[in-house]
Amino acid sequence: MCGIIGYIGERPACEIIVKGLKRLEYRGYDSVGIVTMDEDGLHIRKGAGRIDELVERLKFLEMPGKKGIGQTRWATHGVPNDINAHPHTDCTGRIALVHNGIIENYESLREELRKKGHRFKSDTDTEVIAHLIEEELKGTEDFETALRKALLRLKGSFALGVVYTGEPDRLYFVRNESPMVLGIGSGENFAASDVPAFLEYTNRVVFLDDGEYAVITRDSWIVKDLKTGRIVEKSVQTIDWSLEMAEKSGYPHFMLKEIYEQPKAIKDAIHGNAGIITEIAREVAKYEKIYFVAMGTSYHATLVGKYLFQRLVKRVPVVEEASEFRYEFEDLIDENTLIIAITQSGETADTLAAMKLAKKKGAKVLAIVNVVGSMATRIADLTLYTHAGPEIGVAATKTYTTQLVVLTLLAIELARILHSEDEESLNQLEQELMETPEIVSKVLELNEAIEELAKTLKESRDVFYIGRGIGVPTALEGALKLKEISYIHAEGLSAGELKHGPLALLEEGVPVIAVAPPGKTLDKLMGNIEEAKARGARIIAVSSSEELKRVADTVIAIPPVHELLSPIPYVVPLQLMAYHLAVLRGNDPDKPRNLAKSVTVE
Ligand code: AGP
Repeated sequence: MCGIIGYIGERPACEIIVKGLKRLEYRGYDSVGIVTMDEDGLHIRKGAGRIDELVERLKFLEMPGKKGIGQTRWATHGVPNDINAHPHTDCTGRIALVHNGIIENYESLREELRKKGHRFKSDTDTEVIAHLIEEELKGTEDFETALRKALLRLKGSFALGVVYTGEPDRLYFVRNESPMVLGIGSGENFAASDVPAFLEYTNRVVFLDDGEYAVITRDSWIVKDLKTGRIVEKSVQTIDWSLEMAEKSGYPHFMLKEIYEQPKAIKDAIHGNAGIITEIAREVAKYEKIYFVAMGTSYHATLVGKYLFQRLVKRVPVVEEASEFRYEFEDLIDENTLIIAITQSGETADTLAAMKLAKKKGAKVLAIVNVVGSMATRIADLTLYTHAGPEIGVAATKTYTTQLVVLTLLAIELARILHSEDEESLNQLEQELMETPEIVSKVLELNEAIEELAKTLKESRDVFYIGRGIGVPTALEGALKLKEISYIHAEGLSAGELKHGPLALLEEGVPVIAVAPPGKTLDKLMGNIEEAKARGARIIAVSSSEELKRVADTVIAIPPVHELLSPIPYVVPLQLMAYHLAVLRGNDPDKPRNLAKSVTVE
């Protein structure tokens, strides 16, 4: 997820673009670049770093020209550095473009273009697009036709801003599975990934749909269909959002926005790893001795990973909090060990230390990370990305569910390589994984009902989350979410543990949230719920089973889903519950007290 902005008019483009990029920084902030155009041609300045620092270092506000395009990057392919920053150009330097999305077939296109003599400067998937247009231009004088032909060869998601010296009076913007919206002015026009980028200048907008592109000039705009080149009638809409609201796309908080981004993030995590998962799984398959290390929410993802490996790969990985691993496991690690470190930020001190220790002992390290170019990706031998995009809210939500997606893809591929599970059920599971975005969308429709439920829990002093089997990590995660943003004391535990102590804490009305996905221990869980109910606890069950209606006071009904995939949709109501309770108790869910998004100290 990156931020794109474009401007054509009578004002200095650099000023508009810099302001717009600052407003899009929540979409990505590891590198920034701008291209402007005037009678002398294209002027490009780009570099790794945050916009505020680069405005000084690269003197963005001195760039000439009344038209231009800029991008603030969230790296997916090619680490954040000056060369991989956008814009990217073709061999002639006459075409410059910025991109938001992932080109899945970039490697094969790059090989084909290399054979035709194209020289590539960066490691990005994006640069391929500029050379592809250049190649198509050899067959036609008409830039627009060359652009369309080139884009129809791309697989994946791409929102683009394109400038061409051969057509100095216009800019091109494209949408295919990544957002693009036009801002309609008078004597000037804008385009951007999101409305906040230009809302200061106009609230008259035209949203592009997938497979559409726009040509904007100072005084006109037109939208066409990418496949046919035919004009698409579009209506201008008026947006009545405050700027702050716009940055959150109308959501009151980044956390709620990120919870609602999960269906797309899950899709991106699946597609983003399609080309690499087998190769990584082949490496992992070589190791019997596997350790998962992580902290916080990422640690809960490792617990789900353990269940998936046990059930599908028939291997029992050791799961350890990185803060313990780094001091307790030194003598147990050697060259026959594989460490799988999970960290969304890629900067968590304990997890990095555990990775460094393992490397020192000769172990292989695989990192599952969300932030490209982060320290974890530099320490690790192998890296899988969660493709969730930047997560601004301190409470991890979409980075957690996409970690679960990557772990599931890895376990399925490993089971295939090791023949530890029959192909048919692996194919079935993989097919059902592809359907989880829709299931999560369905669960999100329960938001209002969950908000009403949260109102009845507002005064709770303690809340217990129980689960069995693969439901235990979900219970732990639900409790962590509640603790970290609502400040209500919460405890997640395996339901079987209740009788061994925690049951003493239950009395009339104490909320017990039962995570009850389908599975071989559901009836045992029902028994544990009965035990809690008998002590007066108020039972709230998260389940797709009608059975729960018999024992629970409230059931949050989840669409049917495979047991091994249940941690993905089942955590969503718990994220929403925690979110609403934080808001109802007057807390800022995005910036909870005493916590940081990335814990870079021990
Ligand atoms: C989760 O909501 C918290 N932000 C925190 O527990 C977090 O998961 C933990 O600090 C690990 O962060 P990482 O995934 O960036 O390593």
